[in-house]
Amino acid sequence: MMKSAVLRLLTLGVTLLLLSGKSGAQRKRAVPAPKHPTKGGCCEEVQALKVQLANVSSQLEELTRKQEEEVRSLVHQVLKLDKQSNTLEDRITEAESKYSEINSRVEIIQLQASQAVTQTSTDAIYDCASLYHKNYKISGEYKLPADEFLRTPELEVYCDMETAGGGWTVIQRRKVGLTSFDRDWKQYKRGFGAIRGDFWLGNDNIFRLTRQPTVLRIELEDWEGEMRYAEYQYFTLSNEINSYRLLLANYSGTAGQDSMRYHNNTNFSTKDKDNDKCVDDCAALRKGGYWYNCCTDSNLNGVYYRYGEHTKSTDGITWYGWHGPNYSLKRVEMKIRPQNFQQ
Ligand SMILES: *[C@@H]1O[C@H](CO)[C@@H](O)[C@H](O)[C@H]1NC(C)=O
Ligand SMILES: *[C@@H]1O[C@H](CO)[C@@H](O)[C@H](O)[C@H]1NC(C)=O
Ligand SMILES: *[C@@H]1O[C@H](CO)[C@@H](O)[C@H](O)[C@H]1NC(C)=O
Ligand SMILES: *[C@@H]1O[C@H](CO)[C@@H](O)[C@H](O)[C@H]1NC(C)=O
Ligand SMILES: *[C@@H]1O[C@H](CO)[C@@H](O)[C@H](O)[C@H]1NC(C)=O
Repeated sequence: MMKSAVLRLLTLGVTLLLLSGKSGAQRKRAVPAPKHPTKGGCCEEVQALKVQLANVSSQLEELTRKQEEEVRSLVHQVLKLDKQSNTLEDRITEAESKYSEINSRVEIIQLQASQAVTQTSTDAIYDCASLYHKNYKISGEYKLPADEFLRTPELEVYCDMETAGGGWTVIQRRKVGLTSFDRDWKQYKRGFGAIRGDFWLGNDNIFRLTRQPTVLRIELEDWEGEMRYAEYQYFTLSNEINSYRLLLANYSGTAGQDSMRYHNNTNFSTKDKDNDKCVDDCAALRKGGYWYNCCTDSNLNGVYYRYGEHTKSTDGITWYGWHGPNYSLKRVEMKIRPQNFQQ
């Protein structure tokens, strides 16, 4: 089983090598090659395969480095020759998309490689913290592989590998403002939006990721560019049958009065599923899915209001403990990592 996986990898590696020879695609960021483990050593064949794997990984690294240089010089040339031409943008877009395609294929192959290598050990890739521990220390988009044992599906995530030690799996982001968060139960269950832009990772995914003791970090930015954060040393969601009930505790941070405490121990509500503790239908009133009490002390899934409109309504992206009920924030990120995370 492992042997065939390795063969497949080797074939992919070669394909990629051939492919990259022709393409002038650039590489956005380097992903470190998976660490070659020294433990195990059950038999020579496995050792040999591991060496081959490491070799493929290093070749991939080399290859992507070359790509980067190629594209840089390509872009340089294009810029020089074609400065006035409006085909310039098209070409760069094309180069970028080619590059990101190859880039993500390299990442997936490397992830699979690191999985194959560690099949004998017990550590699976479960979240961004596991990736961090496998030496992926660059923030960005990653694909978590499906794991039958953990019963987790393949999942695209954004990892914050820098803030406060890194290892964070981002579960929510508001910063662009074009994605509506006024969505129904099914959409909040599965997740929606774009992983590099505004998104909700999905209640089922958040539930799975918080089965281990988890820390929640909320980062807030206002329209003056000031940033605050709130951290909860304990954070968990229950499953769908229990309406994704929120439990959190042990707040610390700079975001003023704790504006999630009021939402502790409440069920998740959406416009089509009113689970709040109120006669009002909070989710419909506040135009987002959230753990409404009656109704809110914060609403990170509210309406995105742009500068100038940001103090005129109460259904915006609010955190009462900092800017009160009328102020809709410019940027929000919610991210989680295991309590026992160590750098
Ligand atoms: C890696 O592969 C290259 C090309 O096939 C080969 O020349 C080199 O000896 C290999 N290195 C190891 C450590 O196997
Ligand atoms: C929350 O959900 C649970 C299970 O779905 C239900 O038993 C409970 O009554 C709900 N609580 C409220 C306040 O709606
Ligand atoms: C939230 O509720 C849980 C369970 O009732 C409790 O243990 C925890 O201390 C509460 N958190 C806050 C911030 O009150
Ligand atoms: C909150 O922190 C205290 C002190 O570290 C700890 O005893 C308690 O168990 C924590 N509460 C939760 C719900 O994790
Ligand atoms: C919120 O806006 C309303 C209407 O503009 C205003 O009456 C109210 O005083 C504002 N509240 C705060 C706390 O700014």
